[in-house]
Amino acid sequence: MSFPSFSTAHFNSFVAVLLCSFFATRSLAQTNQGDSIPNRRWWKEAVVYQIYPRSFKDANGDGIGDLKGIISKLDYIKNLGVDVVWLNPIYSSPNDDNGYDVSDYRNIMSDFGTMADIDALLKGMHDRGIKLVMDLVVNHSSNEHEWFKQSRSSRTSPYREYYHWWPAENGKPPYRYSLFDVNHDAWMYDKTTNAYYLHYFSRKQPDLNWENPKLRHEVYDMMKFWADKGIDGFRMDAFQFARKDTTWPTFPKGFEKNFGQYYYMVPGLHGYLQEMNREVLSKYDLMTVAEGAGNTYEDAHNMVDADRHELDMAYAFDGIDLAKPTGYSILKFKQVFSKWDNVFAEKGWLSIFLANHDQARLVSRFGNDSPEFREVSSKMLSTFLMTMRGTPYYYNGDELGMTNPGFTKIGQYRDKATLNEYHHQQNIHADMAKYMKEIAFSGRDNGRTPFQWDGSKNAGFTSGTPWIEVNPNYKTINAAAQEKDPNSCLNYFRKLTKLRKDNLVFVYGKYTLLDKGNPSVYAYTRELNGKKMLVMLNFTSKQASVNTPFGSANAQMLLCNYDDSTNTVKTILRPYEAIIYRLQ
Ligand code: GLC
Ligand code: CA
Repeated sequence: MSFPSFSTAHFNSFVAVLLCSFFATRSLAQTNQGDSIPNRRWWKEAVVYQIYPRSFKDANGDGIGDLKGIISKLDYIKNLGVDVVWLNPIYSSPNDDNGYDVSDYRNIMSDFGTMADIDALLKGMHDRGIKLVMDLVVNHSSNEHEWFKQSRSSRTSPYREYYHWWPAENGKPPYRYSLFDVNHDAWMYDKTTNAYYLHYFSRKQPDLNWENPKLRHEVYDMMKFWADKGIDGFRMDAFQFARKDTTWPTFPKGFEKNFGQYYYMVPGLHGYLQEMNREVLSKYDLMTVAEGAGNTYEDAHNMVDADRHELDMAYAFDGIDLAKPTGYSILKFKQVFSKWDNVFAEKGWLSIFLANHDQARLVSRFGNDSPEFREVSSKMLSTFLMTMRGTPYYYNGDELGMTNPGFTKIGQYRDKATLNEYHHQQNIHADMAKYMKEIAFSGRDNGRTPFQWDGSKNAGFTSGTPWIEVNPNYKTINAAAQEKDPNSCLNYFRKLTKLRKDNLVFVYGKYTLLDKGNPSVYAYTRELNGKKMLVMLNFTSKQASVNTPFGSANAQMLLCNYDDSTNTVKTILRPYEAIIYRLQ
């Protein structure tokens, strides 16, 4: 497939981008005299706060979070000190996958509200200096999208080529693995036209055919519709899957154990991204982030390096994938984050995250959610996220140290992927007790229980019956209680966002790993224009020693997750202790 070559129009938009970024850079630089930092961008300096609308705040009592609910909490969001909100999909959807199955990209899911509500939300955010990033779910649509209804109606429909079809008279299509299907078979037979359609996710999420230029331009027009409304960016859902090899080769047996090697970044995907950049992204001041960074560092660079004109950043899963029910190696954790930093030190930009709506709760997965260590380990993890190079993505509720709910019955789960896999495990006569244990640790619903606002019924999330159970610990862990406590996780998080904001060294500064072989402590410095910060984090529940070149020199302590104020660099850290010093 070919792409339009370098045209005059492209050249003009290229010049426009140069000018735009020149002005953006200048105005940023003016706010921080003396910091001569190249390639400054607002989205590099932002802290992104992810809101899962279904679980954030319900304004009308139907048990489902909504846009009016978010509007009612804008001051709370502002007071966190975050700059950008990423909203999970809010488009019309039959909700097979909580909005990741879009039936109309230009409308709002009725559970969430109306277009007037999103306009009001956007205005409310902009009035407070907060930007809005929308989820863009275009690897697939819902099977209830008008395009799919048309596409499935006849083989000669003008929409037929919007999706991938395999005529059944050619026999069974070569096996493709589906992540969410009960049988993990990505081809679904549809009798209307005696053909199979492709769905990498659920049966209600047919994959869109990106080879079709008509489809691509529909997507670009839709993106412009949102950009013209004034939104500030897109998070590209599952986009690394978008390109398929439509000669449909047979993949080796067992390929599904390593499906990313076959599914991600199929040649041609960069062409789509460059075209999207030309057609849409280059015309606006948008931030873009891809879910998934491909299979290699090179893949990641190719997606985000500025001279590629594709996206701004991607998030890699290597870090988050480390934590298993049996724990994780801190040495490995340090290695993974150090390697990514190193590979992106000169070029490109990173995202830093350890939790989102597809994952367990931050403190339950990477910290320690026992009453003894929950607060301190949660603060330690937040310290990590806010002091690394790259744009931090921080998931709603983690600022309170919210935990996994500890569901024990399948009836407590709502996530289709979890439920379908449950049936699959039953069908293959697997050890169901083992599966229940696994999902209690890593199931996606762990991060989707309602936001814990206060100690009143249903944690103040809804006056009705919540769509998913509230974590019973809401009576002690909630925002209202933490507002009053100066040492709460919430107030600690606010100190961290302020510290990052006041010190660009945390955004752009050079990262150096210290005490590399220390199996308990993660220590590093960040340095920029003569300013040097030292961060030391004990990732364990035991006291641990740390060996840095600074010995017990004098330094200015900026923040500690214990009540402390020492200006001597420590050599022993208490359980989960996090401490930040300014050295120069
Ligand atoms: C992404 C989303 C996830 C969704 C899937 C399919 O991984 O984060 O929630 O289920 O894509 O759209
Ligand atoms: Ca509602």
